[in-house]
Amino acid sequence: MTAAAEQPEPGGAPAPWWRSAVIYEVYVRSFADGDGDGLGDLPGVRSRLPYLRDLGVDALWLTPFYPSPQADGGYDVADHRDVDPRFGTLADVDALLADAHDLGVRVIVDLVPNHTSDRHPWFREALAAEPGSPARRRYVFRPGRGADGAEPPNDWQSVFGGPAWSRVTEADGRPGQWYLHLFAPEQPDLDWTNPEVRAEFEDVLRFWLDRGVDGFRVDVAHGLAKDPEMPDLAGRLPSSGPAVEGHPHWDQDEVHEVYRAWRRVSDAYPGERVFVAEAWIATPHRLARYVRSDELHTAFNFGFLLAPWDAAALRRVIDTSVDALARVGAPPTWVLSNHDVVRHLTRYGGGPLGLRRARAAVLLMLALPGGAYVYQGEELGLPEVLDLPDELRQDPTFTRTGGAERGRDGARVPLPWSGDAPPFGFGPSDRAWLPQPADWAALTVEAQQADPGSMLALYRRALELRRHLPGLGDGSMRWLDAAPAARDVLAFARDPGVVCVVNVGSTPVDLPADLVAGADPVLASSPLPEARRLPGATAVWLAR
Ligand code: GLC
Repeated sequence: MTAAAEQPEPGGAPAPWWRSAVIYEVYVRSFADGDGDGLGDLPGVRSRLPYLRDLGVDALWLTPFYPSPQADGGYDVADHRDVDPRFGTLADVDALLADAHDLGVRVIVDLVPNHTSDRHPWFREALAAEPGSPARRRYVFRPGRGADGAEPPNDWQSVFGGPAWSRVTEADGRPGQWYLHLFAPEQPDLDWTNPEVRAEFEDVLRFWLDRGVDGFRVDVAHGLAKDPEMPDLAGRLPSSGPAVEGHPHWDQDEVHEVYRAWRRVSDAYPGERVFVAEAWIATPHRLARYVRSDELHTAFNFGFLLAPWDAAALRRVIDTSVDALARVGAPPTWVLSNHDVVRHLTRYGGGPLGLRRARAAVLLMLALPGGAYVYQGEELGLPEVLDLPDELRQDPTFTRTGGAERGRDGARVPLPWSGDAPPFGFGPSDRAWLPQPADWAALTVEAQQADPGSMLALYRRALELRRHLPGLGDGSMRWLDAAPAARDVLAFARDPGVVCVVNVGSTPVDLPADLVAGADPVLASSPLPEARRLPGATAVWLAR
């Protein structure tokens, strides 16, 4: 299949940077600690910018560093225009932006528009105000059901477990209205039908654009609009997981009006500022609606992340993604891990097999057309940490499900930078907010830098080649169906001159002569002991 992806303008103007960008997710709490309190921070990120430049990424996405009680790792924002003292200051943001830009690295920040913290001044005001007051109308307050209003307004469930509604106590001390929180009770949902909410966020966008950020990752982009009837799900639809069509609180059509307005804001700034949608949507054609030419620029492709390590499944999600996005002129993007999911090395089986597959997966991902997202630590081959002590877990998913779901802390363990013992150079003290496994000594940046066979070396080389091989990045792809007919093989061309072949299976396959002729293997995810044979769980890039 050939995707009709947009090519550079006929006049020869280069395609915008974000159509092919590799964007690195910095989970700020766990990247690098500048002050020794055991929590990552902005000065820590700034000190490691040369590492990211050398890795070869185009941009960083910084997870929320705003003032926040940290009920959900900072996704409970109490002030959208400031920095939490634990993470630094506004001056640290400015310094980080300046240094990153000097190194040729762009910076995207996280915008959390679906909800605020319950400590946000707006919510404090709403609690103190009367039912029906303007302060309450910024959020979603409703009377309860049942004779005395003691039942929640409907049966919606929080993504983190338990009901999506909490009841407030009114000023006279009596139990009163309920407010909606699709996530934790500390994250009340805003009412996006309220013009005041819209105006406020457009102003927040300008605040950060004026400071020089290159764009925003939009948290829960599919959640802002709710069906005004607020119907019960009645077991018909799931509360969480990728949104299916017709869901009353995910992927409602009205969200798109918000993004059209935002696009007008960002387009007024010089320098190709971008929006990246975090939208968990079940079908690529619904996802594509978020990246129409007057809305957001790209969206995370969770279909790829969720696909099992299986050639047919991968090919299906690649085809449907490329096709759906080409229809709206947007580049596809690819992502394997982030701070909300089990790290892919572990999802792919863990241990040496998981590592081998993860090495092949990144060569697949970086050879596909469009952009890609790398989650901090995947370039070190970090696995999910499965044995964190319960008392150290901080993800609300863990507590709200009574421990039935282990939560996302295992993907958020601080990075190992150097040395032989925890916290492996994470910061200047011996503290790290989550403990690192002792055997990460072999996975530190320092250890891998010295090893040409390391995961870090593979990522660096792949990113370097991706910048220099004209076939890679934005553009179209062509499946090479005549290639190894084995059902475990994915083979495609990126014109001009690059072929990627992935053996998803466990036994070696022949590389077809017509592919190999005149083309050299320029990078392989694992050693190629035999000419013209591709071992199991291995990917190779060939170039002519
Ligand atoms: C997004 C974030 C996640 C957070 C949730 C609520 O999915 O990635 O970490 O818990 O939104 O803001």
